[in-house]
Amino acid sequence: MKGWLVEEFGGPEVMQWAELPDPVPASDEVAVDVHASGVNFAETRMRAGTYTGLASPIVLGLEGSGVVSAIGDKVTTCKVGDKIFFRGRGSHATKCLIKDYHAFPLPEGWTFEQGAAAGVGWLTAWHALHIVGGAKPGDKVLIEAIASSVGTAALQIAKAKGCWVVGTASQDEKLAKATEYGADALINYKTENVQERVMELTDGYGLDVGCMTIGEETASSLIESMAPEGRVCMYGSTGGRMVTFSLNIGARNIQLLSMSIDTSARYVPETIPSFRTEALELFRNGTFKPIIDTILPVSDVVRAHEMVGERHHFGKIILAVPQD
Ligand SMILES: NC(=O)c1ccc[n+]([C@@H]2O[C@H](COP(=O)([O-])OP(=O)(O)OC[C@H]3O[C@@H](n4cnc5c(N)ncnc54)[C@H](OP(=O)(O)O)[C@@H]3O)[C@@H](O)[C@H]2O)c1
Repeated sequence: MKGWLVEEFGGPEVMQWAELPDPVPASDEVAVDVHASGVNFAETRMRAGTYTGLASPIVLGLEGSGVVSAIGDKVTTCKVGDKIFFRGRGSHATKCLIKDYHAFPLPEGWTFEQGAAAGVGWLTAWHALHIVGGAKPGDKVLIEAIASSVGTAALQIAKAKGCWVVGTASQDEKLAKATEYGADALINYKTENVQERVMELTDGYGLDVGCMTIGEETASSLIESMAPEGRVCMYGSTGGRMVTFSLNIGARNIQLLSMSIDTSARYVPETIPSFRTEALELFRNGTFKPIIDTILPVSDVVRAHEMVGERHHFGKIILAVPQD
């Protein structure tokens, strides 16, 4: 098999399309012939060496879709020959090894590219809103970076739950697209004051749930926009990690919640089963739609990383893996 290997962290030039050993599944693992792989912001940090706790070498990629080629003896989620989408490290490759609980059947009629856009962003947004943030019908929810892969999934999940949703982005073109997917209100956080706009939009009430992903640049304005008893759910720090805010949040009983689907003790026992039973059905009946911005050949991984840095994308950038 071949895959995008990083032996030494650094710039885009450190990514090498390398020959690698074929995967052999352990008893709870699944080997997949990869057809498409989703690109994530986190991979640009992984390649650069600024992703917390990661050592090299690594094969890039965190999710994808394809056909099951081998399974371990305890696997119950799929069988050889099944078309699946999945979450798993090393997906920017011709083959990938995943845990059985991360294999999801590719919905009828979906392309492999759609499947590759339904993993990490959706699991993260599901964990954030369904498990950690506890979003309820009628809640006022702000989603930072609404055009991101996680943000476009969070928008659809929050709307399906009956929430009122305001999204933020740095560019008006991305905000306009979010309207097409059901956002109730939008804020360009580069040109508008987030706290003032939230208070105008909610008649002075504020937010019940704040999905925080940018960090340093916008954290204090999001926290100041929260309603009493509001829940801030932090899952990213694209714009920097060092944040200053006033502890007067205690007087408003605001809850600061943080999460990582990699390390959460609730992810496998709670997020995966509810995603499998509830979210998969909403994918099948067309309520949930993975959003694809661009499909590139897997050979164009450098361009994919450039696009993440340029920040014009709405939804997922996909790498298609040719089948020969
Ligand atoms: N906690 C978890 O378990 C978990 C799992 C998956 C992803 N995440 C996090 O979720 C966030 C979104 O990930 P994604 O893969 O969906 O991202 P993505 O599709 O690549 O979008 C990232 C967006 O973040 C915004 N952004 C703000 N400051 C930025 C900066 N300095 N550099 C790059 N982008 C910046 C940009 O939108 P605007 O320009 O419109 O602001 C950008 O388009 C990331 O923070 C990621 O680390 C967390």
